[in-house]
Amino acid sequence: MIIAVDGPTASGKGTIAKALAAHFGVPHLDTGLLYRAVGRQVFLDGGNPDDPASALAATTFPEGLLNDPELRSEATGGLASRVSVHPAVRTALLARQQAFANQPGGAVLDGRDIATVIAPHAHAKLFVTASVAARALRRFMEMRKRGEDVTREAIEADLAARDERDRTRATAPLVQAPGAALLDTSALGREAAVAAAIALVEKQLAR
Ligand code: DC
Repeated sequence: MIIAVDGPTASGKGTIAKALAAHFGVPHLDTGLLYRAVGRQVFLDGGNPDDPASALAATTFPEGLLNDPELRSEATGGLASRVSVHPAVRTALLARQQAFANQPGGAVLDGRDIATVIAPHAHAKLFVTASVAARALRRFMEMRKRGEDVTREAIEADLAARDERDRTRATAPLVQAPGAALLDTSALGREAAVAAAIALVEKQLAR
């Protein structure tokens, strides 16, 4: 059983994907983390994230980098969005994601192109979204808790820029896949969002 969860940053898709994996007893892959590792590696190399060759070279990042807390920062998220526009970077990360999706027991993957590119054959597909204001507020609270010095306005501007880049890029843009169920979490708390996601997935699996 493959479950694909796509959506913009801070929509709640990560929380939902993790909860779905626990509920259905399958492993979970946060594919954004792979792009974040590439973005972080470009930075560590002193490279330019907008240069395809620099970004491609960074796809051979060491495995240990995936545990770096710096991957969760806004700065690394911005770098991830920039390296993810290069088709060669996406191709370099494809096999790893497809192998995870197609492992025998099934899997939950969250990202931008899971239902469109990585696993169009997924048994259940969710497109998780929320208003920019709701997402910026969540991200702001999260950052504040971690002690990052940010303003809500700066986060909102950053999210809007990232959304625009993720939705308009030529290769594997963020779109709601045909057959994907839409889940807007703007007005939902964590528990309600997870319950709604489980109900939507169960409905799709029963088809
Ligand atoms: O979900 P996230 O914020 O961790 O993702 C960071 C960036 O990585 C996002 O702005 C675009 C890119 N990304 C992608 O292009 N494809 C994916 N499947 C996951 C993330």
